[in-house]
Amino acid sequence: MENLMQQIRDSKVLIVDDEQEAVDLMSTFLEQNGVVVFKAYNGESGLELVQKEKPDIVILDLQMPKMNGFEVSKAIKSKNETRLIPIIMLTGNSDFDARISGLESGVDDFMTKPYNFKELLFKVRNLVNLKKYTDELENAESVIFSLAMAVEARDDYTEGHCTRLAYYGELLGRHLNLPEEQVRAIIQGAYLHDIGKIGISDNILLKKGKLTDEEWEIMKKHPEIGENICKPLKSLRFALPVIRHHQERFNGSGYPDKLKGAEIPFNARLIAVVDFFDALSTHRPYRAALPADECIKIMIEETLQGYWDPFLINEFFKVLKQIKETQITLKDEDYIDFCLTNKII
Ligand SMILES: [Fe+2]
Repeated sequence: MENLMQQIRDSKVLIVDDEQEAVDLMSTFLEQNGVVVFKAYNGESGLELVQKEKPDIVILDLQMPKMNGFEVSKAIKSKNETRLIPIIMLTGNSDFDARISGLESGVDDFMTKPYNFKELLFKVRNLVNLKKYTDELENAESVIFSLAMAVEARDDYTEGHCTRLAYYGELLGRHLNLPEEQVRAIIQGAYLHDIGKIGISDNILLKKGKLTDEEWEIMKKHPEIGENICKPLKSLRFALPVIRHHQERFNGSGYPDKLKGAEIPFNARLIAVVDFFDALSTHRPYRAALPADECIKIMIEETLQGYWDPFLINEFFKVLKQIKETQITLKDEDYIDFCLTNKII
């Protein structure tokens, strides 16, 4: 028991229940065991406290007037900053259907009323431990994203590059109606695709002139270095294909694996397309940003030469047309469509 108390000491628990007596009883017991307790007597103020205090666990009553437990749970789990907070739901003995709906709304564990005090402590302990692990993982993930930003900051010309790629990648993913998970993987990949450049020295990465063959060989290692950096983190596993394969070209002329066409993972082909557009439409050390119609012209030319996925190029043109800032007239869009239907590409 002593050990158990040590594990839960100073953890933050929010109790949300409209029955004041029940809340007070539970909070007194938890406080006696070293837990820091926050109390809310309805769903709305519960959500406010979740935002303000970022508790380690929320204990939520199912039956509450106005906003019930399911709605509160859904609201917590739908926000990025609070979705990893574990929730214990208090239900009646025979509420089987309620448990199913609770699981559907994102609840992590249940406790039947009247609950047992020891059971409460063990559940709090287990979920506090779980929360610690996810916090550590989140921290590790944010370190990796900071690294990616540090890579971008080394080169004046790539400032804002990852954010723009994530923006274009997400727009294209949504335009194609890709599943939410895949869109998230594309966004992660957009931020992390060039993280391996951290392993490339400044005199190669920032060289103004042409790279020598030897320097080029070193530069070509950045996708594999990036993959090795992100591999240990399970939560980044869906971004790995983008990191490794974003420099492959549709006709097999890219690196590191010289994959061709559909052999190249879809998300990597997608990021390659938006990456190409971003390179053309922003300032480079060797030339100014190209006007939108000039970008389109080059993209079509290179697609005809076999470098880029024609389907994705074509769909991306449709997306670009909807972004007013790019001011693309896209007279060439019909041309690509024509090439596709006549199997010229
Ligand atoms: Fe790259």
